[in-house]
Amino acid sequence: MIGVKISGVGSAKPKNSVSNDDLSKVVDTSDTWILTRTGIKSRYISDGETTTSLAVRAAKKALADANITADMLDMIIVATLTPDQLMPSAACLVQKELGANNATAFDISAACSGFIFASKIARDAIRTGSNKKVLVIGVEILSKILNWKDRNTCVLFGDGAGAVVYESSAEDNILNIYTGSDGSRGSVLTLDGFPINNCLVEKEPNDYFLKMNGSEVYKFATSIVPICIENVLKGTNIEIQDIDHIVLHQANIRILDTVTTKIGLVKGDLFENLSEYGNTSAASIPIALDEAKVDFKKGEKVLLVGFGGGLTWGSILLEW
Ligand code: UT7
Repeated sequence: MIGVKISGVGSAKPKNSVSNDDLSKVVDTSDTWILTRTGIKSRYISDGETTTSLAVRAAKKALADANITADMLDMIIVATLTPDQLMPSAACLVQKELGANNATAFDISAACSGFIFASKIARDAIRTGSNKKVLVIGVEILSKILNWKDRNTCVLFGDGAGAVVYESSAEDNILNIYTGSDGSRGSVLTLDGFPINNCLVEKEPNDYFLKMNGSEVYKFATSIVPICIENVLKGTNIEIQDIDHIVLHQANIRILDTVTTKIGLVKGDLFENLSEYGNTSAASIPIALDEAKVDFKKGEKVLLVGFGGGLTWGSILLEW
């Protein structure tokens, strides 16, 4: 079997960090409410930077980390809810900016699990033997789809991008990937698309804002993460105690803490950077991986877990 490894990681964020106090001037909220309910202290918000430019900055760092040039890429997959345009895709816009002329480029939509789903496609594409180097990017400018009058959602999210280069390799470092989805429960976290509005039917356009039933998503998140961990370890000879680093989708510190207790870890065992970034959806895991990797040593076991709209979920077990 053809092995797959991560050869490069990079991330990028907009220059503006917006604090909870800053937000309390925009909506009826407070630093105390946001911090105690979510663990978020600030988030990065674009004042003009696009999904493409943020993705390109992260991608360039990942390519440099992998020590390869863009023309060596066989595939670019962008996971995002917030492309600059629906056509061309975010991946094609990134391809153009990078000059990745030999790549097949496309987007996928799996909300906060997007990076995990795209990574599975990348790994499988390399294993077939027809691709050697695949760039996966998770990127969001969520600030453009938030209702800035809705305090239930606008305080939770932020903008950012993370990128990972997967390469064929003699060693197989991607030990397992588990994914799942349940469309029947999708109504708890939504973002509408275009309504049918044509020569036969007249309809008001949608508002294009993210909408969430926070408590239902919270219950889903805290129940699905232990399942993601159990399933990605299944069939391997690795147990939770053997894992050196766990990076969860960064949504809420209370989700991290509940999961910590449920899987028998100690507070602080899970990587955390949501206090600085908020929830950046598809970008959250690759940004966190980029920041967490400074503590990783070769051969250590790393677990990545994502969950979000769809509903979708997934996990990756890898050896660094
Ligand atoms: O990537 C996955 C996406 N989403 C998530 O992971 C989110 C999962 N859910 C959560 O993290 C939590 O459910 C929230 C942080 C969204 C909400 O926390 P909660 O403890 O479930 O609060 P709540 O929705 O029950 O609201 C409690 C109160 C309400 O007031 P009343 O009705 O009790 O008077 C809200 O109106 O807090 C109020 N509230 C706020 N107050 C100040 C809601 N948002 C705010 C706010 N500032 N920003």
